[in-house]
Amino acid sequence: MTKRGLFITFEGTEGSGKTTQAELLGEWLAKDDPVVVREPGGTELGEQIRDVLLYKGLEIDPEAEMYLFMASRRQLIGEVIAPALAGGQIVIADRYHDSTLAYQGGARGLPTIWPPTFPRPDITFLLEGPVEAGLGRHEEAGKSKDRMEQESIDFHRKVAQEYGHLAAAEPKRFVRLDATGSRDKIHFEVRDHLKSLLERR
Ligand code: TYD
Repeated sequence: MTKRGLFITFEGTEGSGKTTQAELLGEWLAKDDPVVVREPGGTELGEQIRDVLLYKGLEIDPEAEMYLFMASRRQLIGEVIAPALAGGQIVIADRYHDSTLAYQGGARGLPTIWPPTFPRPDITFLLEGPVEAGLGRHEEAGKSKDRMEQESIDFHRKVAQEYGHLAAAEPKRFVRLDATGSRDKIHFEVRDHLKSLLERR
């Protein structure tokens, strides 16, 4: 019998370590051949939208920004996520629709919805830690700032606050993890929380 698809997402503010965790999980589950995706991007259209959104120095209307993130996501769902889940695969996403709810909804103050055609994750790991530390980590790494990272510390605090609200509203889906822990500690916590979901497949 084919196994049931499993949709796992990672969320958090800048520099919270979610990309590392998504990758570590992908490696741990390698025998199951999981599909690991990142947002925005992951498809040809998505990568072009990513470029427009983050690196072209364009003035983008906030609502247009939201639709661009969502357009990139819809393409990724259509091309990659939905077929993989339908085929019984594990999908691991580094950011998904909760990012739009937190950044464009919470921080930019736009009204948001969850489009009915966007699959709901089975489980969402939220990495929570001091916003300043995350942004600092990024600077230390010597990376240039993209359009979102150039936003004020206040903006990023609002993102973190909205993530907190989202997690509180859906405690069954969200797992809140302390992002200040070591990378291995967090990885073991992730594994622990996935145990029962993996067994039920
Ligand atoms: P990325 O380089 O992927 O950042 P990170 O490593 O923090 O994930 O850039 C994505 C940026 O876009 C990040 O600042 C978060 C933001 N973003 C939104 O504002 N809305 C969204 O829906 C998504 C997916 C990302």
